[in-house]
Amino acid sequence: MAFPSLLDQLGPEISDPEEETFLLYSQDIPSQNLGFVDPQATTLDLSVAGKDYVIHQSPTILNRPGSTTGAVVWKITPLIADWLAASDNPLWASGILSSCSDVLELGCGISGLVGLVLAPLVAKYTLTDQSYVARLVEKNINENSPLRNPKQTKTTSTSQKRKGKPSAVYPKAELRFVPLDWELDEVTPSLTGSDKVKSFDLVIACDCIYNDTLIQPLVQTCADVCRLRASDENGADKTAVCLVAQQLRDPEIFESWIKEFSRYFRTWRIPDNALTEGLRSNPGFVVHLGILRDEAETRN
Ligand SMILES: C[S@@+](CC[C@H](N)C(=O)[O-])C[C@H]1O[C@@H](n2cnc3c(N)ncnc32)[C@H](O)[C@@H]1O
Repeated sequence: MAFPSLLDQLGPEISDPEEETFLLYSQDIPSQNLGFVDPQATTLDLSVAGKDYVIHQSPTILNRPGSTTGAVVWKITPLIADWLAASDNPLWASGILSSCSDVLELGCGISGLVGLVLAPLVAKYTLTDQSYVARLVEKNINENSPLRNPKQTKTTSTSQKRKGKPSAVYPKAELRFVPLDWELDEVTPSLTGSDKVKSFDLVIACDCIYNDTLIQPLVQTCADVCRLRASDENGADKTAVCLVAQQLRDPEIFESWIKEFSRYFRTWRIPDNALTEGLRSNPGFVVHLGILRDEAETRN
C-alpha cells in the first residue's frame, strides 16, 4: 500500500479542526478579489507545467442568477495543476498517482484544466460538475488536446515515426466530462465509464468550498466516491485518497468544511515543503488530503 510512504511526508494528522482553522487564519491572508483569474475575459492563455492552454470561459454565464461560479477559472486551479504534474509531488512519489491511476475531479468548472494537465500522465481522468459547464468544458477538452495543437502534433508524429513509439496524444475517452451534481446525483461505479474499473484512486476538489449549504453534499460526495474502493475487488489493496485545494476566504465556512470533512476522513494538510513555490508563497491557498475513515470510526 502506497499510503505509509505518503504519511512520512505529510507530518501530523489534524486532530482538532478548530485548531487547524485557528492556525490557518492566524496568518496574514492576502485579498484575492474573490479569486478569479480574470472574470471579464472570454479566453485565457495559461501556461501550466511547461505547456500552453487556451481556455474558453464565460463571464455571461458567471453573471447569470444562480450558482454558476464554474463559468470562469479560479486562481488556485492552474497552481494545483502545476503542482500535481510535478514529478516530485508526494502523490507520485508514494505511487498514489501513477500511469495506472484513475482520477475523478468534482466541481471542475468550464476549464477542465487539471484534467488537461494530468490526463496524459494517468490512465483515466473523469471531470465532473453540474451540467451547465458541459458545453464549454468539452470545447476546452477538444481544443486543448495535443492532437489539435499543430506544434505538438508535428513533434509527436515525427518522433513517433523515428522511434516507432506510440503517440503521446491521449485518446479522448481518457479525459471525459460526466455531469455529477453533489445535491442531486448518486455516486455509482458507472462514473468510471468502464466495466473493468469500478473505483478511483484519487478524488480532487479544487476551490469548491465557498458556500455553507454545499459543504455537506460535497463532503458526502467525496466520501461516496472514495467508498467505491471498498466494493472494488480489483482495488482492495489500494487506498483511495481525496485531495481538497482551496482559497481561504470566510473562516466560518472553512471551519464548517473541515469539521464535516474530518467526520468522514482522516485529514492532513500538505506541508509547505511538499508544495510548489506558487502554492507555498501564497498563504491564502491550502491543500488538504483525506483518507476515508472506517464506517465505525466516522465521527458523529
Ligand atoms: C469556485 S468554482 C471552481 C471551479 C473550478 N474547480 C476552478 O477552480 O476553476 C466551484 C465549482 O463547484 C461547482 N458546484 C457548485 N455546486 C455544485 C453541485 N451541487 N454539484 C456539483 N458541482 C457544484 C460549480 O459549478 C463550480 O464549477
